[in-house]
Amino acid sequence: MLILNKTAGVFSKPSRRKPYEFLRSFNFYPGKLFLHKLVLGIETSCDDTAAAVVDETGNVLGEAIHSQTEVHLKTGGIVPPVAQQLHRENIQRIVQEAVSASKVSPSELSAIATTVKPGLALSLGVGLSFSLQLVHQLKKPFIPIHHMEAHALTIRLLNKVEFPFLVLLISGGHCLLALVRGVSDFLLLGKSLDIAPGDMLDKVARRLSLIKHPECSTMSGGKAIEHLAKQGNKLHFDIKPPMQRAKNCDFSFSGLQHVTDKIIMQKEKEEGIQKGQILSSAAHIAAAVQHTIACHIAKRTHGAILFCKQRHLLSQSNAVLVVSGGVASNLYIRKALEIVTSATKCTLLCPPPRLCTDNGIMIAWNGIERLRAGVGVLHNTEGIRYEPKCPLGVDISEEVGEAAIKVPRLKMEI
Ligand code: KG4
Ligand code: ZN
Repeated sequence: MLILNKTAGVFSKPSRRKPYEFLRSFNFYPGKLFLHKLVLGIETSCDDTAAAVVDETGNVLGEAIHSQTEVHLKTGGIVPPVAQQLHRENIQRIVQEAVSASKVSPSELSAIATTVKPGLALSLGVGLSFSLQLVHQLKKPFIPIHHMEAHALTIRLLNKVEFPFLVLLISGGHCLLALVRGVSDFLLLGKSLDIAPGDMLDKVARRLSLIKHPECSTMSGGKAIEHLAKQGNKLHFDIKPPMQRAKNCDFSFSGLQHVTDKIIMQKEKEEGIQKGQILSSAAHIAAAVQHTIACHIAKRTHGAILFCKQRHLLSQSNAVLVVSGGVASNLYIRKALEIVTSATKCTLLCPPPRLCTDNGIMIAWNGIERLRAGVGVLHNTEGIRYEPKCPLGVDISEEVGEAAIKVPRLKMEI
């Protein structure tokens, strides 16, 4: 049984309990010697409570995750105090499960890494205070993690990808294109000027009431759109990609969402149904929206690749594009990106879906990367705060726009 619990102050002021009380809650495996560095990663930035223990070579020794998706689907979006409460209820169990599964005793950990930015303040707070207690109890170094940096570096746990490489991160809360030059050395080439693609897909799915669709009721918005789109005709509606004349690598999705809302309203009128009922044309709308998003993301990424090659920021012959984040698990969008990477002679790499969405493994791996590089490993956590907003790297998106890269038109036959 874990000693740490809500009433023991894990979530408020640091506990005065002694380390051995916490350690007692784990099984020990005496005699087993870990030669590699071991990091416990903890993620609570949004709506997943996740933890994992990963070693230096990329072995995942133990992991656990509690997803809040079903709860938030019912409330029609993430309600931060609800997310906070669910993190509070689950963090202890999830961390214990991950550590127990790893068969590592907490004393063998080299460090604890936790997402501290960016994300929902109330959610980040739970992970940070829990982690700081652990850090103090176990007397381990602490590695604060940038959630998007972790998404970007996940690929290096799986593949031998050298710096520099280009990364496209597309999720429910983020949308960015960046050049990764080192573990904590990023150039931001482009970002969404409004909402993220996952957020847009979630809103469209909600507006289409896909939660009531028998095949989609437990799926996230984006997954539901991908599923339904397979049954629809993308040419049924002509939805134009946004920012067609913009010369930069920025993105926009809210205009697309409004256009889709209008189509849905029109169709509801035509089909004589109320808001909240499922349209007979829902699959066509899903297919058209998914196609437009895929084309938009592909075009902006194409521009970023050409910019990097023109400036010799990426290898001419051996460039790598990594795509990650929840939306990267969408196979249609991946195919659109494959068209771009084959036209530009790049290698496209995507982590498997379970590592594209939020997880503890990516946080632990980012901890390993930072430990190996010797950057951002704290032995004193005084003054450490979470940061709900935090850009990734140095923003050169204006320079990208000024370069006005001409992006050749590609046939998007997906
Ligand atoms: O990375 P993630 O788990 O959380 C953050 O936003 O950081 O991404 C979740 C987002 C949600 O908006 C969800 O609708 C979207 O990823 N998503 C998808 C798919 N699976 C999840 N979007 C498109 N296609 C999918 N298959
Ligand atoms: Zn994420």
